[in-house]
Amino acid sequence: MRIVILASGSGSNMQAVIDAAAAGELAVDILAVGSDVAGSGALERAERVGIPSFAVGLEPGASAAERQAWNERLRETVAGYRPDVLVLSGFMRILSAEFLDRLGVPVINTHPALLPSFPGAHGVRDALAAGMKITGCTVHQVDAGVDTGPILAQAAVEILPDDDETSLHERIKVQERRLLVETLAQLAQGDLVLR
Ligand code: GAR
Repeated sequence: MRIVILASGSGSNMQAVIDAAAAGELAVDILAVGSDVAGSGALERAERVGIPSFAVGLEPGASAAERQAWNERLRETVAGYRPDVLVLSGFMRILSAEFLDRLGVPVINTHPALLPSFPGAHGVRDALAAGMKITGCTVHQVDAGVDTGPILAQAAVEILPDDDETSLHERIKVQERRLLVETLAQLAQGDLVLR
């Protein structure tokens, strides 16, 4: 299965995919890693292991027209690698409906909460603030909404009394890396079929 990965941050989830593929545990060909943040940890990790990487930046406060142009530039770059699946792994931008339509391949995302609860950019913080005792992570297919697409897999994580956002997020990410790799393996083996 040919994949392109988009990541904005440190890229630890992406690294789990790279490691599983390198160990022969995951039958994916990682064609490229892209980011909206030049110099992000994710791009550095890709470069370290010789995976092609690219950055398509979007300025803060971009206008609607600038966002549309950014979506189009990013879509063209991703499509140029001809992936079977696009994987969002800590990618903190919303892709437009037009991007998804025109790309024409499934897009999957990993999110640090049990969707449909706590969508958006602060899933860990929001679950803590709501006083939850259990949260977790979700791998889902991306649709035109914000974290609203069909749920593919979830794992629960207990919230401990002395947790802060960082400690909780780290424990969620341990589950998230496993869940992302397992879901990609199911997709690559044809055990899970996306619309
Ligand atoms: C992950 O927890 C991912 O679910 C989250 O960013 C983190 C990236 O960590 N994504 C979102 O919150 C998207 N809404 P990483 O850079 O260490 O892989």
